[in-house]
Amino acid sequence: MEVAQAIYHRRAVRSFTAAPVTAETLRSLIDAAIQAPSAINEQPWRFAVAQRRETLRRIAESARDHLLSLMQTGSPFLRFRDMLQAPGCDILHGAPALVVICATSAAPQAAEDCALAAQNLMLAAYALGLGTCCIGLARPWLNQPEGKRLLGIPAVCAPIVPIIVGEPALVPPATERRAPHIDWIDRPD
Ligand SMILES: Cc1cc2nc3c(=O)[nH]c(=O)nc-3n(C[C@H](O)[C@H](O)[C@H](O)COP(=O)(O)O)c2cc1C
Repeated sequence: MEVAQAIYHRRAVRSFTAAPVTAETLRSLIDAAIQAPSAINEQPWRFAVAQRRETLRRIAESARDHLLSLMQTGSPFLRFRDMLQAPGCDILHGAPALVVICATSAAPQAAEDCALAAQNLMLAAYALGLGTCCIGLARPWLNQPEGKRLLGIPAVCAPIVPIIVGEPALVPPATERRAPHIDWIDRPD
């Protein structure tokens, strides 16, 4: 697949079939993720993968309850309150797999490195016909001691990009992109 096809047609998928994603496929997505560049080639990432329905349910519910406990005035999560309180709310959208890209150090650019790995993973998934979506809403709870324990990661590591993966049941239409603000600070002579 042409890289432009993946870049321009990948969408945030939030509706999945019940088809499982094989461990081999997830491994190939992680292999694509680690081809990302990283500052001074630190490769400061590790990956936690959850596939059991019970584990995914626990993460989704814990993360939702944690967010609902953070609804004080001024919270950036206030806008999600109604959605989180709606019956049946599942912040993992019923996906059959979750890959959490975690930073292994507090190096100044570790989070950016993980984000680059995340985009590789999502484009590689698209090329395999799979759907993905970053789930930032899961991050606050996953960064709690209980969340890190569930992921099996050391306290010094930090979950940066949770990504759900599965066979798309529905692919949403493209979201519009605003025209970029570009300051051409000079031009060739
Ligand atoms: C860092 C990050 C966090 C996101 N968190 C969520 C989330 O918690 N839940 C969700 O449904 N979508 C989440 N998204 C998906 C975005 O809403 C989506 O990428 C955006 O609307 C653009 O749509 P597109 O990816 O189809 O182009 C997140 C995306 C990014 C990059």
